[in-house]
Amino acid sequence: MERTLVLIKPDGVQRGMVGEVVGRFERRGLHLVGLKLMVVERGLAERHYAEHRERPFFEAVIDFISSSPVVAMVWEGPNVVSLVRSMMGPTNPALAAPGTIRGDLGVDIGQNVVHGSDSPARADEEIALFFGPEELVSWERAGSAWIYP
Ligand code: RTP
Ligand code: MG
Repeated sequence: MERTLVLIKPDGVQRGMVGEVVGRFERRGLHLVGLKLMVVERGLAERHYAEHRERPFFEAVIDFISSSPVVAMVWEGPNVVSLVRSMMGPTNPALAAPGTIRGDLGVDIGQNVVHGSDSPARADEEIALFFGPEELVSWERAGSAWIYP
């Protein structure tokens, strides 16, 4: 079963969107296996966004993600990486359709509410960056057979 890392970014936490975002994934039928409120220190932020090291927005992204607490989560489900990305909408909320998280809750590319891993391989790396194995919980959700077999 696939897993993905989701962050509710500092803007989402500061604006009181934690319940809104978590509720969307719960209602969709995804399975929560890890969740915590944390401050992303700069070293972790730089490892997390290493692929963007040469991009002009790199410093701004590092400053922003480390500016205030985030909620880090691991969600599990079939094709959960692409499913979560489709629920988030495109990077720029101005281009995100209503019904997506960014399309409903954001307007600015730098403050786009959520992060989701962009591939299963990257998800595994990001989960290992943010969570120790003891922080991930294997459990059975009541009624899960009515969501997927
Ligand atoms: P994320 O990694 O945060 O989930 O977002 P993403 O995959 O949709 O977008 P990505 O290309 O990975 O970019 C990471 C974050 O950098 C900021 N960004 N700013 N000014 C710009 O052109 C620009 N491009 C990207 C965004 O906040 C994006 O979430
Ligand atoms: Mg990304």
